[in-house]
Amino acid sequence: MSLPPAVRLDRLLANLGYGSRREVHALVRERAIFLDGQAVTDAGARIALTADIPERLTVRGAPVDPPAPLVLMMHKPAGVVCSHKEPGRSVYELLPPRWRSRTPALSTVGRLDRDTTGLLLITDDGSFLHRVISPRTHAPKRYTASLQWPLRGDEADIFARGDLLLEGEERPLAPAYLEVLEPRVARLTLTEGRYHQVRRMFSATGNRVVELHRDRIGSLDLPPDLAPGAWRALNPDEREAILAEDKCESPRLA
Ligand code: URA
Repeated sequence: MSLPPAVRLDRLLANLGYGSRREVHALVRERAIFLDGQAVTDAGARIALTADIPERLTVRGAPVDPPAPLVLMMHKPAGVVCSHKEPGRSVYELLPPRWRSRTPALSTVGRLDRDTTGLLLITDDGSFLHRVISPRTHAPKRYTASLQWPLRGDEADIFARGDLLLEGEERPLAPAYLEVLEPRVARLTLTEGRYHQVRRMFSATGNRVVELHRDRIGSLDLPPDLAPGAWRALNPDEREAILAEDKCESPRLA
């Protein structure tokens, strides 16, 4: 069995956004940091980074933030953006301010439009991010779209064929799976994440998406008790569910 990695306390806390290394040294002098119930007196001490570190290490009486690699799920509310560059309030502002100074930085796994709600993953784990968004992984993403006009009836065939060309693109979309829930409400499962993809797909059939919500990625469902704006870290089983396709109800796509 391999030993957990050991890290310097000042480096760990600086990387988690608790301040510069100098500020972490000041916290140690104030006796604000406890490890296994004992005040830490050496900011340069190497500590074993065990999975239960938030239960062992406290800063000003609160459990330390979970270290990298971290995957969060958020119930994205409407009206916030997924990019630092877009104007307006971002999903990062729904996290504790300290989390914006973490190294490695947190990024959203793909993006949802400002008005799209639902399951959003946020991670500092680059290889996990690439595996989820890679077209080769085919991690299915499931959306519920409310439409301006009733469905025509041929949308499921059009989307499943795998030859739909969106305006301005040269490569057709991979097959997608549509379930009609109500005359103006449909569930769509995609394996790609092209720009405004769901809205543009319905627009290609002469319709318009008025509300869009993502409720599943891979086999991970948005938990019903996660309110809009709320977030939490994923446990290892939930992380695995994202890339496990065997439990998906929709047929394997593409
Ligand atoms: N497709 C869209 O059109 N918008 C989203 O936010 C996600 C998928």
